[in-house]
Amino acid sequence: MKFPLVTTLLLSGLLQAAVLLTAGNSGRTTVAPASSLNITFDSRTMRLSWSCKENTTLSRCILIHKKEGPIEYRLRKKECSCTFREVTLHGGVTFEVHVQTSQGVIQEKMPYPNSGREGTAARNFSCFIYNADFMNCSWARGPTAPRDVQYFLSIQDSKGRRDIRCPYYTQDAGTHVGCHLRNLTGLTSRNYFLVTGTSGEAGIQFFDSLLDTNKIERFDPPSNITVTCNKTQCLLRWKQPRTHQRLHYLEFRYQLHVCRENSQPDAENTVITVQGDWDNRYNLPSSEPRAKRSVKIRAADFRILTWGPWSKPTEFGSDDRQTSSAHIYVPLILGTLVCALVLGFLFKRCVVMQRLFPPVPKIKDKLNDESQVEDQIIWEEFAAEEGKVYREEILTVKEVA
Ligand SMILES: *[C@@H]1O[C@H](CO)[C@@H](O)[C@H](O)[C@H]1NC(C)=O
Ligand SMILES: *[C@@H]1O[C@H](CO)[C@@H](O)[C@H](O)[C@H]1NC(C)=O
Ligand SMILES: *[C@@H]1O[C@H](CO)[C@@H](O)[C@H](O)[C@H]1NC(C)=O
Ligand SMILES: *[C@@H]1O[C@H](CO)[C@@H](O)[C@H](O)[C@H]1NC(C)=O
Ligand SMILES: *[C@@H]1O[C@H](CO)[C@@H](O)[C@H](O)[C@H]1NC(C)=O
Ligand SMILES: *[C@@H]1O[C@H](CO)[C@@H](O)[C@H](O)[C@H]1NC(C)=O
Ligand SMILES: *[C@@H]1O[C@H](CO)[C@@H](O)[C@H](O)[C@H]1NC(C)=O
Repeated sequence: MKFPLVTTLLLSGLLQAAVLLTAGNSGRTTVAPASSLNITFDSRTMRLSWSCKENTTLSRCILIHKKEGPIEYRLRKKECSCTFREVTLHGGVTFEVHVQTSQGVIQEKMPYPNSGREGTAARNFSCFIYNADFMNCSWARGPTAPRDVQYFLSIQDSKGRRDIRCPYYTQDAGTHVGCHLRNLTGLTSRNYFLVTGTSGEAGIQFFDSLLDTNKIERFDPPSNITVTCNKTQCLLRWKQPRTHQRLHYLEFRYQLHVCRENSQPDAENTVITVQGDWDNRYNLPSSEPRAKRSVKIRAADFRILTWGPWSKPTEFGSDDRQTSSAHIYVPLILGTLVCALVLGFLFKRCVVMQRLFPPVPKIKDKLNDESQVEDQIIWEEFAAEEGKVYREEILTVKEVA
């Protein structure tokens, strides 16, 4: 039993355990012997054993997994046990042992079902590591689990040496539905998670799962985010977050979310993905005067890209956008005005000159006249365009003010 019976006794009390045993809810206890080979399976150590036969030439032990198919080991002459690793059993499995002796082959099967009422096992089980040192797991009660169901989580390292019992449960109306761990020193890179259950009313099925600590880590946001700007750009810098796994800086990915303050959620907001570096930095082109902005950063493992939470926004840029934009717009408008006036004046003078000295009519003059008309149109168009620009600038100033 992965979850030792002693623990169950301690946790659920003697009475409940007695009910549990009489109800045959021994989910993962050592299964009773079966005929001449007397196969037994200890789920705590994942060891399948059988009675040794004399003059054995070859033995094979097989675990038939409903989803993953058979897992088979061939054994040397004298061995009469084998240990399975990296396999989940909640779907129910079948064990098979073939022993070849000088007197023939002995072959035996032993079903290992997930005993208990169907649909009582914990479901939606997941775990994640955060803050480098903590892990939270959560699950939901099985849909057919009785009201008095209680679940227990234990975690075993991949070598089956160490059992960690959940030290702190989160509860929902008295039922354990989550676990919080603050000491991950006992975990290896791959671990076996087992949720067993007890109830006075019905047998509770177990749920088990194999999880890689490397795949379930959610990175903290980067720390110490700083922004320094000069005339043309802003340099964003941040510190790699502390993680449970030991990772190279190149294994990190970051997302920078640059956000203009007081703007619509998706207007001018950009998300930039950056590879981790020894010295994490990003040059954001941004020329003065710049509006007030903020940047948030989050991190992930580049292989998995499950993003951690965003950092708190770090603000940069100036708040006095009105004054800074006035610095640009006022000279621009004045310039436009002066240009328009000068052009208008020149144009008028041209027309007056033509009136004073009308050209002597000739045959070819019609063409000239036409070109003049065209010129006029062009000038007028230009003047109108200028006027438009002028009006637009005024509008912009009004909007800003
Ligand atoms: C089967 O094995 C168990 C434990 O290994 C032992 O207690 C039992 O006596 C064995 N039964 C037979 C029939 O060999
Ligand atoms: C095992 O082999 C030896 C000699 O090879 C033989 O004497 C003995 O009877 C055999 N035992 C069985 C159970 O077959
Ligand atoms: C559990 O997961 C299933 C899908 O896998 C979902 O439909 C269901 O709502 C989840 N239940 C809970 C209680 O989270
Ligand atoms: C992890 O679980 C603990 C205990 O339930 C809770 O206080 C904490 O907020 C959880 N952390 C996260 C990141 O969900
Ligand atoms: C964490 O657990 C290990 C054993 O799993 C233990 O040796 C160590 O003292 C614990 N550390 C803390 C801070 O509790
Ligand atoms: C944050 O970064 C600045 C500049 O890079 C450095 O001076 C400061 O010591 C850092 N603070 C921490 C807590 O790392
Ligand atoms: C702004 O800083 C960057 C480096 O961060 C530098 O390459 C650039 O020349 C600087 N520009 C000005 C105008 O100082």
